[in-house]
Amino acid sequence: MSGIAIMTSGGDAAGMNPAIKAAVDHARQLGMNPYVVYDGLEGLIDGKIKEATRELTNDMIYRGGTLLRSSRSKRFFDYEFRKQAYEHLKKRNIDKLIIMGGDGSFRALNDFFNDFEVPFAGIPATIDNDIAGTDYCLGVDTAQNVILDCIDSVRDTARSHHRAFVIETMGRDCGYLAMTTALCSAADICIVPEIPYDLESIYKRLQPVINEEGSCIIAVVAEGTRVAQYLTRWLTERAGMDTRLTVLGHVQRGGSPTARDRLMGTRFATRAVEALNNGDINQIMVYHDGQYGYASLDSVAGQQYSVNQDIINLCRELSC
Ligand code: F6P
Repeated sequence: MSGIAIMTSGGDAAGMNPAIKAAVDHARQLGMNPYVVYDGLEGLIDGKIKEATRELTNDMIYRGGTLLRSSRSKRFFDYEFRKQAYEHLKKRNIDKLIIMGGDGSFRALNDFFNDFEVPFAGIPATIDNDIAGTDYCLGVDTAQNVILDCIDSVRDTARSHHRAFVIETMGRDCGYLAMTTALCSAADICIVPEIPYDLESIYKRLQPVINEEGSCIIAVVAEGTRVAQYLTRWLTERAGMDTRLTVLGHVQRGGSPTARDRLMGTRFATRAVEALNNGDINQIMVYHDGQYGYASLDSVAGQQYSVNQDIINLCRELSC
């Protein structure tokens, strides 16, 4: 029986566990022998591979993060370690791989394919939502909801003290998380790498709010701009607001996957198993304009992801 191994790589994302469960179940249904790899590509090198028992996926559906754990592997760039990984797969008769992560992880498995011809399928999973070719990556909806809960809580205390809060979100160089949560939380300011900002016009726009009794100011800033501290000082000194900075950090990567991430994970994973079963190898699962599809590695990896123009246009009003 042919073996298929499932692994998670790079930063964890909610929705990975539901996707692992769906991939294991669907592979078994199609007559494949499902395995899991612990610790991502590092674990593949070290042979941390187990047969996926039914018990393994029990209760996986609602758990955050990845129960297979993850890593950002440097060793996998080295042919000798890739060869070691291949030996572990060969021993177990595993001839297909599913990887969840970002384009670096997909590229790593493409190198592996070029060396040893083990086909793979990729599932986009990162809270940054910065993978080209897909409108959605696993983990984004859960992260957005975690961020919104935090902003709503901050708003309570901000209003109680007539304060401004600068809230820094993750996203690496992509402002998607910041933009969407700024819109959904009715933030007053949004600063992201995709949009030039103008502090003086923000000041003019917000002056009535600043002077209003019992008001507060919420600024959502993407980490990629690196301006959170500067904006905090500016709001204190120029706008005269008592201002605090809240860096949300890794809290954004945790939490039970939302219904959307469970469903997207299930759909991406079953399609990934089907692609490999049908001989559609080395494809990345994508969701674009409301349709599921496959994209080639070259159309995904190393390409610039662009945030939807409508979202950018709406956020422009919060950047000036
Ligand atoms: O790529 C996901 C992400 O959470 C980014 O938003 C963030 O910049 C980075 O990973 C943090 O990485 P680490 O978990 O290694 O600190």
